[in-house]
Amino acid sequence: MHVRRWDYLRSMNQWKTVGIVGAGTMGSGMAQIAAEAGCEVVLVDAHHKALERSKDQLARVMDRLVEKGRRTAQEAAATQGRIRRTTDLVDVKGCDLVIEAIVEQLQAKSELFMALEAILSKEAVLATNTSSLSVTALAQACDHPNRVLGLHFFNPAPLMALVEVIPALQTNPDLVEHAVANMRTWGKAPAVAKDTPGFIVNRVARPFYSEALRIHEEGLASVADIDASMRKIGFRMGPFELMDLIGHDVNHAVTSTVHEAFYGDPRYRPSHVQRQLVAAGWLGQKTGRGFYAYDGRKKLGAEGQPKQGVADRILAMLMNEAVDAVFWQVASAHDVDLAMQKGVNYPKGLLAWAEERGLQQVAAHMDELRGRYGEERYRCSPLLRDMAQSGKSFFQ
Ligand code: NAI
Repeated sequence: MHVRRWDYLRSMNQWKTVGIVGAGTMGSGMAQIAAEAGCEVVLVDAHHKALERSKDQLARVMDRLVEKGRRTAQEAAATQGRIRRTTDLVDVKGCDLVIEAIVEQLQAKSELFMALEAILSKEAVLATNTSSLSVTALAQACDHPNRVLGLHFFNPAPLMALVEVIPALQTNPDLVEHAVANMRTWGKAPAVAKDTPGFIVNRVARPFYSEALRIHEEGLASVADIDASMRKIGFRMGPFELMDLIGHDVNHAVTSTVHEAFYGDPRYRPSHVQRQLVAAGWLGQKTGRGFYAYDGRKKLGAEGQPKQGVADRILAMLMNEAVDAVFWQVASAHDVDLAMQKGVNYPKGLLAWAEERGLQQVAAHMDELRGRYGEERYRCSPLLRDMAQSGKSFFQ
C-alpha cells in the first residue's frame, strides 16, 4: 500500500518531534543531537536502568561542555529539558520521525517497526541506525515501506558529523531529499548511500584492517611498525590500535557480515589471526589484551617505526575500494570522500588523495599486487583502470 503524495508533503516540514528507541551508546548520542537541534525528543528503552545511565551520561557531557565554554548553562539545561525518557513505546505517538537504535537483529528491528506503525500516524518517518542489516528487508516488514530509510550515525554520534542516508528499494525518493535537508539542520554531514553491504564507510574501510592484517600475517612488518606507518601518513590511529579499540569481536563480525553479504568475495575475506584473538578472548582494550597489552586505556610496549612500502600498499587497497564503491554506484565520488573524512576521520578523501598521487600509479600498484599474488583480492577496479587510462578526474 502506498502513502499518497500529499501525505508525504504534509510531513515534509522540518522534523520537530523525534522518537528514539534504544538508549544505549548510539540512541543516547542521537537524542543529544536532536535535542540540541531544537527537537522535542522521546527516548525509549525497554530497560529503566539504560534510561538512567543515558540521563546521567548526558548530564556529565553537558557539564563538561559548559565548563569548557562551548555551551551556556541555559543551552545545556534546555537540551536536557527537551528529552523525555520512557519505557513505554506508546509515548512516541505524535512523533514526526522515529529512529531505532536497538540490538542489531533483523527480527527484533522488524517487530519494533511493526509495533511503531500501529502507534504512529501514517506520515511519520521510520529510520534505522543499523550498520549491517538490509534497510530494504526491514522496510519489507512495514505496511508503508516507502516511509522507511536508514540514518546511520557514527560513534560517538555527537562528535562525528557523518550520517549515511540510506533509502530502501521501496523508499519514496522525496523522503531522501527531505532527510538530507533535515540532517543538515541538525549540523550533520549527510552522504547518500545505496542499500548495499556496509553502505559507504564499513565497505570502503575494510582494507584498512584487512590489508594491515595480511601484511602482518605475511610477516612483512610488525603490528607496531604497521601502525606507525599509517600514523605517519596522517591517520590518527594505526589499524591494530583501532581494532583493539573497536573490539575484535565487533570488527571481525562486521568483516564477516560484509564478506557473507558479498557472496564470499575474496576481497572481504576475514582474517584468521583476528579470529584467533576472538577465540582467545583477547578482544582488545576492553579485555586488557588484543594485539597490544593494556594497563587500563594505556597501551603497553615499544612504539614502532614506519616501514617502507607498508602505508602505500594499504592506501592503494583503500583507494581501489573507494573507486570501486563509485563504480558500483554505492554513492557519488563527493559522498565517498566526505564519508571517510566525517565518519572515520581519514586525513583526506581517498579519491582526491588517489588523484593527488596519480590514478595511473594506484592502478599500477594494484596490478603489481595482483601479479605477485595472483589473487582476485587484488583486482583493479574497472573504473580505476578507465580513469587512469583516460586521464579523467572524479571532481571535474
Ligand atoms: P547498545 O547495546 O549500547 O544499546 C541498545 C539499547 O537498546 C539497550 O539499552 C537495550 O536495552 C535497548 N533495547 C534493545 N531492544 C529493545 C527494544 N526492543 N525496545 C526498546 N529498547 C531496546 O547498542 P548500540 O551500540 O547503541 O547500537 C544500537 C544500534 O546502532 C545497532 O543497530 C548497532 O548496529 C548500531 N550502530 C552502532 C554503532 C556503534 O559504534 N556502537 C555505530 C553505528 C550504528
